[in-house]
Formats: sequence, C-alpha cells, structure tokens
Amino acid sequence: GKITVTVIKADVGGFVGHSSVHEELLATAREQLAKSPLLVDFHVTHVGDDINLIMTHRQGVDSEEIHKLAWDTFVACTEVAKKLKLYGAGQDLLADAFSGNVKGLGPGIAEMEFFERTSEPIIVFAADKTEPGAWNLPLYKMFADPFNTIGLVIDPKMHEGFKFEVLDLLENKKIIFNTPEDLYDLLVFIGAPGRYCIKSVYTKAGEIAATSSTQRLNLMAGRYIGKDDPVLIVRCQSGLPAVGEALEPFARPHLVSGWMRGSHSGPLMPVSVADATPSRFDGPPRVIALGFQLADGKLIGPQDFFADKAYDRAREMALMIADYMRSLGPFEPHRLHLEEMEYTTLPLVLEKLKDRFVKA
Ligand code: 13P
Ligand code: 13P
Ligand code: MG
Ligand code: MG
Ligand code: MG
Ligand code: MG
Repeated sequence: GKITVTVIKADVGGFVGHSSVHEELLATAREQLAKSPLLVDFHVTHVGDDINLIMTHRQGVDSEEIHKLAWDTFVACTEVAKKLKLYGAGQDLLADAFSGNVKGLGPGIAEMEFFERTSEPIIVFAADKTEPGAWNLPLYKMFADPFNTIGLVIDPKMHEGFKFEVLDLLENKKIIFNTPEDLYDLLVFIGAPGRYCIKSVYTKAGEIAATSSTQRLNLMAGRYIGKDDPVLIVRCQSGLPAVGEALEPFARPHLVSGWMRGSHSGPLMPVSVADATPSRFDGPPRVIALGFQLADGKLIGPQDFFADKAYDRAREMALMIADYMRSLGPFEPHRLHLEEMEYTTLPLVLEKLKDRFVKA
C-alpha cells in the first residue's frame, strides 16, 4: 500500500527568546508520538524555535487522526513551555481547540502520499525566521534549472521536465505551470515569493516529487497567518533530482523575508541541527536538511546534510551578506516594504503625526 510522509511544525515557546527549543519540549514531543499506534515511524527535530514532527503512516494526507496527534503533541509541549515560562508559549497554536485539520490553526504542514519505490531517498528541509516563499528559488533550481540539476539534461527520465503548482496567497487561487514550456511565465510569479508560492512539484506523469508547508493566508487573532517558518519534503533519485541536486541550491545563500521581528530581508544560511540556533539579530534565517531512506515506512536516518564541510563557504557567504544587510539598519531593502512588515508601527505613527502632514 501507499505510505504517507507528514511533517507538521509549530513554535510553542522559544528558548531563549526566539533562538531554539528547550530539550524538555523535544522529549515531550517524542513521548507523545511514541504512544501513537497510528505511526509507522517518526523523528522529532527543531530548527531555531520551531519543533518539527516528521511522521510516516498509512492514513493518507489530511488525516484527522494524524493532525490531531500533532495538535495534541504541541498542546502537551505548550504545557511544558508554560511551566518553564519559555518565550511565546503556545505562540503558533492560534485556535482554542482542534477542529478536524491543523491547516489554518497555526502549525505549518507538508505531507505527501506515494508508493514507496525500491529505494526511496527523501529530504526534509526546515527553515526558521522566514516564510514559505523562501522555497521558491531552491525548488526552481532543483526542478527547472539545468545549471543546478544536470539530470534535466542527461537523465532521459527527467528530460520531459516537471509540473509546478503555485498558490496565489492573496487571492487563494492556484495554477499549474509546465516546465520547461512555461519557464518564463512561472518566473513572473515565483519571483514574488511574498505572494506566489510553490506548493508542490509533480512529474509530468503526475507523481508527487516535492511539497511545502505553503498554505492559504488565514486571518486569525487579528493577523494573517500561514506565512510562518516553513518546511519542505523532496523525493530524490530515479527520475527525480539526485540528493546532491536537491541540496545544491543552498550552496549560494539567497535573500529571504523574515529575520528580526519577521520584518527584514537576509540570507538563508544552511546549517546542521546543532547550529540551528538563530541568534544574531534573531538570525540570520536558517535552513536544515535531513535525509532519510524509507524502508517500509521506517525513517532510516537522519543524515544531517548541511553539517557537511562543503557548506562552510555558503555559511561564510551568508555571514558576509548578513554583515552588509545589517549595515543598512532600518532602511529598505534590509527592512521589508511597509506592507510586508509583520509588526508595523506605521498606523500609530501616522495617527500621531496626522496634523503635521500638510499639503505639499
Ligand atoms: P553513484 O555511482 O555513487 O551511485 O552515483 C550516481 C549518481 O547519480 C550521483 O549523482
Ligand atoms: P519566530 O517566528 O521564529 O518566532 O520569530 C519571530 C521574531 O520576531 C524573531 O525576531
Ligand atoms: Mg518564536
Ligand atoms: Mg520560528
Ligand atoms: Mg516568523
Ligand atoms: Mg514562527
């Protein structure tokens, strides 16, 4: 039968501030998941202050039981976070109670169901201090750029190209682009990652290849949610990008939105789990990549890919870019455009100064 890989993440309390997750929360999450008879296997990790529950099961996508398991796990972790008075305890649990599906309730989710191949290498990417649009550029490189993925040129099974499902987060619409035919049209949209996000990538035959935690923006608790610290699952090899082709886009850190107070642009730095502790100006934004071989749903791994020395130069470059961006202080484009800022004082300042604005 088919196997489902579900990754659900939430920030239910930072240790310290927004930099990491306290070990007691990770232990609580592992205890909770270990009790479930529904899971074939699981792995609990974190990037920055976000807990990632990586789960395999046979319940399919959008399973109420699996989503409830994740929700209840985060609720249990929130209790611990409250006891330890961690920062922002329960921050991403925006609803009072679970109601059928975690989508729109605060946690981020990426999941896919497929027939496990003879060998099934997958990579779970998770990022902190950024938003789902951060995956646009790397997904484009993995599945559509022959300068990144030589398989598009020399592997007959990849030469046909792929299908990209893109969400318009503002209008709640989606569209499928075929590559390489629609390359230029695709780039018009995904080059604006604050609004247009790649949700999934499929082979031309319709097989799922990658999926992200991109979801429609929901207005909850008086603010938009659905743009938070994202996760991404990518299947590799045999007609899909090789593991090294899926990792290669992160060798040159690109600028993403997030960082301090979710209101800045900065480089996405690839790091090991041990180094996934954003601190400088609450950053710079981090990404981890955990590799697993599935074996009848068992998660054999993880391989902590960005611990590899080959990513040292990417980290150096990210730190150089971080120095430069920080030197701009409160000026754009380090600070995001007004309409993109998560916590903006603009309305208050405008109100205070309204009598001092006169006709020019
Ligand atoms: P191996 O010969 O090590 O299996 O490598 C094959 C390959 O496709 C590398 O990208
Ligand atoms: P998180 O979304 O990771 O909690 O970050 C929020 C923030 O304000 C960082 O400065
Ligand atoms: Mg936080
Ligand atoms: Mg976070
Ligand atoms: Mg954030
Ligand atoms: Mg967050």
